[in-house]
Parts: sequence; C-alpha cells; structure tokens
Amino acid sequence: MITLLEKYQLNRMEQPPRPTLIDFHGVSMTKYFTDNWDNVQNFKARPDDILIATYPKAGTTWVSYILDLLYFGKTHPELQKSTPLQDRVPFLELCSPLQPSGVDLANKLPTTPRLIKTHLPVQFIPKSFWEQNCRIVYVARNIKDNVVSYYHFGRMNSLQPEPGDWSTFLHDFMEGKMVFGSWYDHVNGWWEKRQTYSKLHYMFFEDMIEDCGREIDRLCSFLGLSPSAEEKEKVTTGSKFDNMKQNKMANYSTVQVMNHKVSPFMRKGKVGDWKNHFTVAQNEKLDEDYKQKMKNATLKFRTEV
Ligand code: A3P
Repeated sequence: MITLLEKYQLNRMEQPPRPTLIDFHGVSMTKYFTDNWDNVQNFKARPDDILIATYPKAGTTWVSYILDLLYFGKTHPELQKSTPLQDRVPFLELCSPLQPSGVDLANKLPTTPRLIKTHLPVQFIPKSFWEQNCRIVYVARNIKDNVVSYYHFGRMNSLQPEPGDWSTFLHDFMEGKMVFGSWYDHVNGWWEKRQTYSKLHYMFFEDMIEDCGREIDRLCSFLGLSPSAEEKEKVTTGSKFDNMKQNKMANYSTVQVMNHKVSPFMRKGKVGDWKNHFTVAQNEKLDEDYKQKMKNATLKFRTEV
C-alpha cells in the first residue's frame, strides 16, 4: 500500500515512478491496479450500472464516449464540455497516487446509469456486477493492432511498466507479461462468459471501424435505447476519431501521467497499422503463436486485418 508520506511526495512529483509487473493470482498486474483490491472486490454495483470491459487498447475510450453521448448527450451536455471522460467513466481498479481511485470516482458519480470501465480479466470482476445482473459491453481488437497500440501506450504513460523496445515488448506480449495479463486469456475468457451470462454484449473494434452506425444500433438494442435520428447523428459525429482527438474532454490530454508528445493517446485509430511495425519474422512468429493458443477457441476474429 502507498503510505500517506509517499502519497504526499508523489503529489509533488510530475510523474509517479514506472511500476514493475507482479504476479497477481496468476495474472501480470501492477500495484496501480491492485493496491485498492479490497475496495474493488467489495464494490457495490447497482442493477443499472453499465460495465465497459476490454483488454487495454481495444477501443475502451471510443465505446465509453459513445455510451456517454447516448445516455447523457441530451440530458447533460454541460458535463461533456466541463468534465473529462475519465471522470465521467471511472476506471474501476485504477489506484494512482495522483488522482482519486476509480472506486471513489464511481461512488461519487452524479449521473445514472453509472458507466464504469475496467480492464480486468473476467475472473476478477467484483461479484456484485454478476449478482445485480448488470449490462456489460466487452470490446475486443485484433491481436496485431492491439499489441502495437499497447506498445505506444506504454511509451507515453508513466503508469505502465517501461515497454522496452518493440521486439522485447512483442515477445513479452506473447508471453502474457503485460499489465492485465495475456491477451489470449482475456478475449477468450470474456467470450466464454457469454454462454452463462446473457447481459454481455461482445463487440469488435474492426466492426466499429467498418460501420460505426451499425454498431451503435446494436449497442442501443442491447441497452434498450431508442435515440432519435438526430441524437444518433450527434453520437456518430461526436465519436469520430478526428472529433474525439480534438476534444480535450475526450482525448485524455488532461491526464497528468500521459505524455502525448511521446505518442498521442488518440494515435491513429485504424485497422492494419501493425503492418508498419512487424517485421516478416515477427509476423510469422505471432501467427504461429496465435494458431497454437487459439486452436481450441470458439472466438473467431476476422483474418483480414
Ligand atoms: P491506436 O493506438 O491504434 O490509434 P483504448 O481506449 O482501449 O485505450 O484504445 C485506444 C485505441 O483506440 C487507440 O488506438 C485509439 O487511437 C483508438 N481510438 C480511440 N477512439 C477512437 C475512435 N473514435 N475511432 C477510432 N479509433 C479510436
């Protein structure tokens, strides 16, 4: 746990120290996501809470902003102009010395339903979400773009461990030595959960890129929302990459631990950027790893990425 003195010292620093990975019940994590564990596990979900779950860099912010616009774009437009997205959609397990914990933020949210974000693998989700039968939206992204995006995120975010160079990072990623563990375990664990939990809507980043309007319609039907054509247009336009990138309340530019000069949070927002990063040998290695680890999976991603 971080002591009060450490908290005081950290508050005087510009950036907290880079964390190291720890093995947390078999999953790689860091203290910034485990230090508040009891409060996270005892979190009291409400039946109308909506949980947005993802492996990091799969499109969490995009879907969070879409949901925020769908629920509050009409009723609380002032909040979207004054309050950064990360405060409107708290990150449940986040426990950084520089900001209130995700649990505290969630408990103080002034609006309902509460939109809450998590990167936890399915087995770590606090039990109250299941007991309250909350709606959950899961977003998955193809492995190659996901790892590239995670690499650049590691470079710009001091709450992440030092990413090392690209080839080291890719190697660690395949080994599951990433914050929130193995991508394979994450996407498959949540996919399997659909068999026993019906209030889980599983979406793909690539589908959103292909036709975001269609994906918003699917989301609305899952959530029981029927926005007017004009409202939907506002959501679709507001959540476009270029508009979010310019929007200080949605682009994370207000987050102290992120250095957007190293790599902007709203980086490229594309499918296929992995081709600018992988060597032929790295691509072959990942393909082989993927084949092995996904051979029994019922989850299928598009092969064309
Ligand atoms: P890139 O790094 O590939 O650009 P998360 O929110 O889970 O951290 O995911 C971040 C990734 O989603 C980044 O990917 C970011 O650019 C992309 N993203 C965020 N908003 C987006 C949008 N409106 N359209 C397309 N991509 C978006």
